[in-house]
Amino acid sequence: MATLRYLGHSAFEIRGKDTVILIDPFLSGNPSGAAAHESEFTDVRYIFVTHGHGDHLGDTVSIASRTGATVVTNYEIGHYLGKNGVACHAMHIGGTFSFPFGRVKMTPALHGSDIIEGDRMIPGGNPCGFLFDVDGERIYHAGDTGLTMDMQLLAAEKVKAALLPIGGNFVMDVYDAARAVEFVRPEIVVPMHYDTFPVIAADPHEFERLVGTTATVKIMKTGDTLDL
Ligand code: NI
Ligand code: MN
Repeated sequence: MATLRYLGHSAFEIRGKDTVILIDPFLSGNPSGAAAHESEFTDVRYIFVTHGHGDHLGDTVSIASRTGATVVTNYEIGHYLGKNGVACHAMHIGGTFSFPFGRVKMTPALHGSDIIEGDRMIPGGNPCGFLFDVDGERIYHAGDTGLTMDMQLLAAEKVKAALLPIGGNFVMDVYDAARAVEFVRPEIVVPMHYDTFPVIAADPHEFERLVGTTATVKIMKTGDTLDL
């Protein structure tokens, strides 16, 4: 069994039998309030980062530096974080690796990924999503993305829970996210990346209505947990 906890925006914790994973830990500076302060994470083993934007890279460096967690991200962000003294495992789009808790595939996302540092913009490679097997449960975190035909490939992967952005403007809106559910065919879908900022306001209940009977929509409030 794996337990999913929504930390706000696109940030999740996955707690498995022997591992604690964070995805896109944007906690400090989340204007809608995150579920926890970054200092509360003490036993994190892995931090998965989908792309270089600040609302995803978030508190990665401070949590990884303090806990010794390994950051799993694309080659370019891995190179950047490595220079900051963080332990990284670099992957790239389409690649799969077997971690002690299970396999992870890096999936494509249609978005940007550059890292802003002061007034410099550092190239952050290709944005991605992740398909996780944690204790035998398959979880897809789409990262930031528009609707893509590539999502149809995930239908064969028998995804238990899909975490999909619905906030529009930078990512899919509720209409495209509902089409993504038809492509991916997960058992459960959790909407994310909405209402954090005014420009990504969205109604998760409208998303639920659009998904209909294709999947079970679980609208998680920040801090909610879900056993898979
Ligand atoms: Ni982004
Ligand atoms: Mn984002």
